[in-house]
Parts: sequence; C-alpha cells; structure tokens
Amino acid sequence: MSFILYGMSQKTALITGITGQDGAYLAEFLIEKGYNVHGLKQVSATPNTQNIEHLMGSITLHNGDMNDANAITALIADIRPDEIYNLAGQSQVGTSFDLPEYTAQVNALGALRILESIRILNLQNTTRFYQASTSEIFGNAPHVPQTEETPLNPCSPYACAKVYAHHITQTYREAYGVHVSCGILFNHESPIRGEEFVTRKITQGVAALKMGGKTPITLGNIDAQRDWGHAADYVRGMWMMIQQDKPDDYILATGETHSVRDFIDLAFKCVGIQLRWEGQGKFEKAFDVKTRQTLVEIDRKLYRPTDIAALRGDASKARKVLGWTPQWTFETLVQDMLRSDLNALESHENNTGDIVRRDGNTAWSDAA
Ligand code: NAP
Ligand code: GDD
Repeated sequence: MSFILYGMSQKTALITGITGQDGAYLAEFLIEKGYNVHGLKQVSATPNTQNIEHLMGSITLHNGDMNDANAITALIADIRPDEIYNLAGQSQVGTSFDLPEYTAQVNALGALRILESIRILNLQNTTRFYQASTSEIFGNAPHVPQTEETPLNPCSPYACAKVYAHHITQTYREAYGVHVSCGILFNHESPIRGEEFVTRKITQGVAALKMGGKTPITLGNIDAQRDWGHAADYVRGMWMMIQQDKPDDYILATGETHSVRDFIDLAFKCVGIQLRWEGQGKFEKAFDVKTRQTLVEIDRKLYRPTDIAALRGDASKARKVLGWTPQWTFETLVQDMLRSDLNALESHENNTGDIVRRDGNTAWSDAA
C-alpha cells in the first residue's frame, strides 16, 4: 500500500517471476520510478537470482510458488501492493508439450490464484493487476498483423493455459471491477533472455564459434517467423498500461517479422562471418563461406508437434492510447545480445585461459 515519504507518495509493486528476464527488467524500471519493489521467487536449491543480483538491497524477495494459493494470499495481504505484475510462468512453449499439466497449473491457475486473493482480501479498489498474456494465444492467425480483435486460436499447451489466464483476468474486470490489464506481448528478448529460447541460443552459439568454438548451433524450425522486440521497451509498456484510469488490454509489438534464419544470418554478419546455406529440410546446413566450417545444422527432434509459422503484431492501440513506441530495432536487439555474449566469453577467457581465440582481433566486427 502506498505511504507518504518525504511528502511524496511511494507506490508498492509486487512482481511474480522477478528472477526471469521481464521480472528483472521491470524491477529495475520500477526502482528507478521510486517504487517499493517486492518480488515473489520460487524456492531453488541452486541460485536463480543472477538476473537481479545487482538489485539486491533495493528489492524485497519472498519465497513463494504460483501453485501455492495460501502463500500467495498471505503475501498479498501482508504487502497490500498498489500494483501486481504477474510475470511468473512456465514460459517455454516447446517444454509445455512435455509438461502440459504443470504449465496449466502455473500459467492458467496461477493468474486465478492472484485474482482470487485480490477479491477475497477486498483489494478491488486499491490493487491493480497486470497479466502477462502473449501473442501465442493467436496461434496461426487468419490475418496479419494481429490486433486485439484477432480471434484466439492457441496451438500449444502453453498457449491454451495463457488463453485461460487471459479470459479469467478479463472476467474479473467485468464481474468484480478489478483494475486488471492484459498485455498481449509479442516475443521480446535481451542479453538475459533464457538460454533455451532460440534467439539466445543463437547469440551464445555465434559468440562461442567466433571465439574459436567448433560445435555447430543445432536448431529446429528456422523458417518460423516472429515479431522480436527488446524486453526493455516491453516492461515500460506494462507499466504504462497499469497507469491508465481505465483498465484495458493492449498488444505490444514492433510490427516487423523476421525468420529464425534471418536472425542467424544477421548474428553471424555482426561478427563478420558470412554464411552459405546448403541442403534441404533436416539436411540443411550453414557454412562459413571462408573456412567451410559447419556453423548451423538442423535437428528434427527440435521441431514442435505444432508451431506457429508467423507472428506480426499491430501495436497501434498502445501507440495511440499509451504513447508507447519501441526504441530498439531488430538490428540493435541482435547487436545488444551478441555484444553481451561475446563480453561474457572474453571475460571467461581472461580469467581461465581455456577458450582460445582464432585471431588476435576483437570478436565484435565493424560489420555490425
Ligand atoms: P522467464 O524469463 O522464463 O521468467 C519466468 C519467471 O517465472 C521466472 O522468474 C521463474 O522462476 C518464474 N516461475 C516459473 N514457475 C514458477 C512457479 N511455479 N512459481 C513462481 N515462479 C515461477 O520469462 P519472461 O520472458 O521473463 O516472461 C515473463 C512472462 O511473460 C511469462 O509469464 C511469459 O510466459 C510471458 N511472456 C513472455 C514473452 C517473451 O517473449 N519474453 C512474451 C509474451 C509473454 P525461476 O527463475 O526460478 O525459473
Ligand atoms: N526454443 C527454440 N529452440 N526454438 C527454436 C529452435 C530451438 O532450437 N529452433 C527453432 N526454433 C523456433 C521455434 O520452433 C519457434 O517457432 C521459434 O523458434 C521461437 O521459439 P522460442 O524462442 O522458443 O520462442 P516462442 O516464440 O516459442 O515463445 C516465446 O515467445 C512467446 C510470445 O510469442 C516465449 O517467450 C513465450 O513465453 C512467449 O509467450
């Protein structure tokens, strides 16, 4: 609950999923705005706080789990936050095919548990709620670009669970007047993107190969197209939604779409490596034009049972109502991720000496 600090009202925010990519970016953003930031993190035997180490001392962490309704209610009763950002989730679409029930528990019922806490604790008029909806709910949509009016057509257990969370959030807005907003966010990445997602897998792989690594990057469906933005832009949009007098749902997207193959080509170009693609389907490979070293290969096992062929979002509503526009481009996003992964390898090399560079030059190319 807000309180008066030196004549200024300080707001309190609770972020679930604070240890993830968006949680870390949002925590940093809210701290800069003067918020009192609390984060719910799941218990882990090994450290899961690397993304927020630099914020320790400025945030309050609470152990909890989206599957534990009592703990969620107790925490919200204790903090009485002005704003709750529900970012916790089993966020890997591919993994949701292996763990459909767990994904539903966390992604679908997790949102319900928070909404019920708000209702039971009678916080409808004081606590605002942000739900992390996703472009995955559109599936293979009948039209491009997707807008807030595009019919929902989920095609993964992840997306089905997110559709439930999306609808139950809207239902609590209608039924109980809770100030809730769903951000329908298209893919957004950053240097702290989880290593299982395709963009980070590529930038880490490219950095390792540039530094003399020999292992090709192994990928699945590289013809898939996504609308990729930068997480820094998207957390600003989340906050903007919650500041509106009237709660509503908004798409955040760049409006551009690129294939995984485009991402790969650009990432290698950034480090001065030109690729040649040869072969078809699972036999397709990419080589370094100069050295003939194999840099990318395909593994059919990495294909999903169903996948979205292409996504492209229309963020006109967010632009018009919130004044939100992304600052990062596809090129600057790829450069940012790559620069960070190269820096990490260079520091590692300096500390241990076990990564041998092929050349004496900097790994970052002026071609970027
Ligand atoms: P992320 O990096 O995978 O972070 C997910 C967070 O949820 C992590 O902090 C994770 O904790 C936590 N979590 C997972 N299961 C939990 C549980 N049972 N109880 C409590 N916490 C749990 O994902 P992200 O990219 O930041 O995305 C944030 C949210 O936005 C997710 O809900 C995602 O589905 C959604 N979304 C993401 C995108 C995107 O492109 N990034 C687009 C649209 C929507 P650990 O750190 O311990 O694993
Ligand atoms: N992860 C992964 N790994 N994806 C691969 C690979 C691979 O080796 N090879 C090809 N892909 C393809 C996937 O099949 C998919 O079509 C595309 O790359 C993007 O995959 P991800 O990076 O895993 O992201 P996503 O689009 O499935 O899901 C992300 O964006 C959603 C928003 O649209 C996640 O952040 C979701 O949580 C989010 O809701």
